[in-house]
Amino acid sequence: MKHDWEIEGWREIRHGRLLLGGVDAGSLAEREGTPLFVFSERRIRGNVHRLTEAARSAFKRTKLCYAAKANSLSAVLRAVRTAGADIEVNSGGELYKALHCGFLPEQIVFNGVSKTDEEIGLAAGRGIYAINVDSLYELEQIARVSRRLGRRANVTLRMVPEIGTRSHIGLQTALLTSKFGMSPEHLPEAIRFALDEPSALRLAGVHIHVGSQTPDPGPYIDAFSAMWRHLVSVYEETGFIFGHINLGGGVPVRYLYDGSALSLPKKEREMLEAELDTGETLRQAVSGIDRLASDQVNSTLREKVELVLEPGRSVIADAGVLLTRIRNIKHRPETGETWLMVDAGYELLLSMTNYKWYYHMVAAERTGEPHTARYKVAGPLCDSGDVYFDIEGKGRLPDYRLLPEAMKPGDVLALLNAGAYTMSQMTAYNGRPLPAAVMVTMNHHPELIRRRDTFEDLLLNEV
Ligand SMILES: Cc1ncc(COP(=O)(O)O)c(C=O)c1O
Repeated sequence: MKHDWEIEGWREIRHGRLLLGGVDAGSLAEREGTPLFVFSERRIRGNVHRLTEAARSAFKRTKLCYAAKANSLSAVLRAVRTAGADIEVNSGGELYKALHCGFLPEQIVFNGVSKTDEEIGLAAGRGIYAINVDSLYELEQIARVSRRLGRRANVTLRMVPEIGTRSHIGLQTALLTSKFGMSPEHLPEAIRFALDEPSALRLAGVHIHVGSQTPDPGPYIDAFSAMWRHLVSVYEETGFIFGHINLGGGVPVRYLYDGSALSLPKKEREMLEAELDTGETLRQAVSGIDRLASDQVNSTLREKVELVLEPGRSVIADAGVLLTRIRNIKHRPETGETWLMVDAGYELLLSMTNYKWYYHMVAAERTGEPHTARYKVAGPLCDSGDVYFDIEGKGRLPDYRLLPEAMKPGDVLALLNAGAYTMSQMTAYNGRPLPAAVMVTMNHHPELIRRRDTFEDLLLNEV
């Protein structure tokens, strides 16, 4: 039977075992140790191509800037760049990594709510495509830093027009109750300020990121309209045309497979199994502009304006798998439950505790067997929240995880869609050295792209 999580050429079952890009997952775990992240160069490139083509089918002048926060391993950034994507960064560190990995300044968008003068100096000094501005205060800060450098910074105004989504509240970012962006009331002043500072600032665009794992087209359509309305009013009042509108990221990834999380509440399920048609969503968004301006104004703007997208999760989540080994087992006669303790927990999957995120789990060396036996699966950390099931009684994770009968210490589990917001958020909590990562290259070679930290690395930088 073919499972709905299989991806041809990447996640497949052969002779009952999990193959990753043609390489046996159990053997990889044996060779490199666990926990181990495994990525597919083919899948990363495929995701970039699919998203770019879908977006360009709706809006020809689309620039795809991969959101580095989802995973900023150098090998991932290089794969994304080779696939033709540009990049979005959220700190001086990510900006440094992007430049280090060969991205040109004109390929870089810089977001962030608390940028330092040094970070702005690096961005403005290099002349990146856009610094997305989070407040009036920050706009003045960028002008001050740019003047000092004798540079002209490209600035894009981040808007928060009160657009909600059906994602986790911690992942919604266009609400006035969120920490992001400029208040709508401050936008006219920001535009005036930027236009009055032509030697330090170039007003480049407007930006709305509605949030991550946004399951419906509605919020993107609303955000597109809000930005277009803005373009039209500024154009009609002043004749000025922004160079781009930036619709952010948020394209959802399907995390639920094989019905194994059927006990989840409807809202949670709908968010975690969402599959959004990017092309169709953008087509609907673009068709909405007919109502916002005359054909003549719209066609003038369309000729000049570029659409920027900042997808992170949808590029890298399903291109990464986390392999973890069962290290301990216990049966509790009182509850009749069997516990499996693995060597990866929320130190590598922060979303699991933050947002009760579901990662689908399969037995790597027994993938062909029915996954119908119930287990309590737990990570290695010292707190009770480090588990792969629901402990709050809110049902945001399943009560049990389903695996083959008679799982035992030594067996390897694979956590699917673990490529996004995992390595970029991992910590050495409990003194656990950070894991290694492997990239299966286009020609099916598993290449080590991050070595496993050692105990000595735990002391690095301690004085
Ligand atoms: C400004 C901005 N752009 C893009 C993204 C990427 O979102 P996603 O990974 O859901 O595509 C984020 C993440 O939250 C973000 O904050």
